[in-house]
Amino acid sequence: MEPQKEKRFIVLANWKMHKTLAESIDYVKALHEGLQTPGDRVEIILCVPFTMLGAVSREVTSSMVSVGGQDVHDRDWGAFTGEISAPMLADVGAAYGMVGHSERRKYSSETDEVVNAKARALHRAGIVPIVCIGETIDERKRGLTLNKLERQAMVCFDGFSGDEMERTVILYEPIWAIGTGHIATAEQAGEAHGFIRRMIERLFSGKAASMTRIVYGGSVKHKNVSDMLKVKDIDGVGVGSDSLDVENFLGIVERCTEAVSMKIS
Ligand code: PGA
Repeated sequence: MEPQKEKRFIVLANWKMHKTLAESIDYVKALHEGLQTPGDRVEIILCVPFTMLGAVSREVTSSMVSVGGQDVHDRDWGAFTGEISAPMLADVGAAYGMVGHSERRKYSSETDEVVNAKARALHRAGIVPIVCIGETIDERKRGLTLNKLERQAMVCFDGFSGDEMERTVILYEPIWAIGTGHIATAEQAGEAHGFIRRMIERLFSGKAASMTRIVYGGSVKHKNVSDMLKVKDIDGVGVGSDSLDVENFLGIVERCTEAVSMKIS
């Protein structure tokens, strides 16, 4: 298998706790209508609330679009009231599962160890984990950004095989950029992505480092995404609030598609 062919550029929508079932179905219909030039270089991942996963998966007809959960439990089954397991996500059509988003770390006290257990559960179920890492503003100001990323990666990817690491998506989201309108500069994102890639090479292999997709998230909008696309080491963008409006999200998809086709032409 030719590895680079498999590495599609990710445009990820994180709806967080938004939308009704009817709204989500309308969204997917509008998304499909707006995808003018379906290609095989860009992959759209819709990370939607659990209640909409099945319906959204059924609505998806484009090979460009995949569906993901926003969290998962680390056990496959059992007496865990209110939880959703990785096999259950797979059962309703999720190809991806997000773990360790900073909001879950903050409001649900998720540690890197918990994130690791959840990511391993996803791998067991054949679902690709999207592992979120990133520094606080305080850590950045104190020059501790790279230390934080290293510590998170060491724990979050602990015990992964090389193959599992290759399939994993890393979502680098500086916490200070999430929901604030302050997107990282291309230089800041480039430094973090380059550091993460070298670390994957050190911890796993050169192949894992080149195959693992490293995605930037935090205040990405249709108006500013073009700047981020100049970053050399970027394999995708993660979009929160601007993904809720399908027209804005389509604008981001379009700019990413253009940038990717310019890179390969
Ligand atoms: P934002 O959210 O685009 O609204 O900053 C990003 C995220 O939390 O994934």
